[in-house]
Amino acid sequence: MSNTKHGRRRMLELCISRSLLIAGAASTSQSRLLALWQGAEAQMHKPTNAEVLGPFFRKGAPDARVLRAPGDPGLPLKVSGRVLNTRGQLVEGAKVDLWHADHNGLYDTRGYKYRTKLTPNGKGEYSVETVMPGHYSDRPAQHIHYLIAAPGHKTLITQAYFATDPFFEGNPEKNWNKRGIAANKELVLPVKLFETGPHTEVTFDIVLEKA
Ligand SMILES: [Fe+2]
Repeated sequence: MSNTKHGRRRMLELCISRSLLIAGAASTSQSRLLALWQGAEAQMHKPTNAEVLGPFFRKGAPDARVLRAPGDPGLPLKVSGRVLNTRGQLVEGAKVDLWHADHNGLYDTRGYKYRTKLTPNGKGEYSVETVMPGHYSDRPAQHIHYLIAAPGHKTLITQAYFATDPFFEGNPEKNWNKRGIAANKELVLPVKLFETGPHTEVTFDIVLEKA
C-alpha cells in the first residue's frame, strides 16, 4: 500500500473513531460529525503553496503544448501534472498559465515564447514540452511560473523549482531556502533525467482551495 493510501486510511480511521466517540455523547449533533469528516477530507490534499507573480507575466498566451522549437538551446523538459481540489478531485474549468525564462535566463517580454495558457484534459491533466529554464541574476534559481484559475476556487500564483538545479548545490533538502528564493520546500521538485534525447521530466500536481 502506498504511503498516501496508508495515510489516507489512517486519517479516515482516526476520523471515524473520533466520530464514533463523539457520537456516543448525546450532545453531539450530526452537523458536528459532518464538519469533522469534512475537516479530515480537506486535509487529504494540502493546497499548493503560493509564490510571487513576478514582473514577467503576460496575459493572452496561446494554448500551446510544445513550447520549444527545434534547435532551441537548453535541456528538453517535459512538465506535467494535474489540477485537483483538496479532496483529490478533478477541478472543472481550470486554466493554467505557465511561463519561464529561456535557457539564457531571458523572458520573452514582447511575444509568447515559453508561455502558454493551458486547458487541462478531462482528467485534469496538463503537459508541456519545453526546455529547462535558465538562471537570471535577480532570481538565480531555475523556476517556472504558474497562475491557475478555476471557477469556484481561489486563483493560485506559484512557481516550480528543480532539485537538480546547481543553485541548490546538490543538496536541495538542506539548501532549498537559499537566499530566500523558494517559498516552500515542496515547490522544489524532483527531476527525472532520461538518456534518450536526453531529456528531463518533472511532475507538478496543483491543488486548489475552494473560493
Ligand atoms: Fe521568474
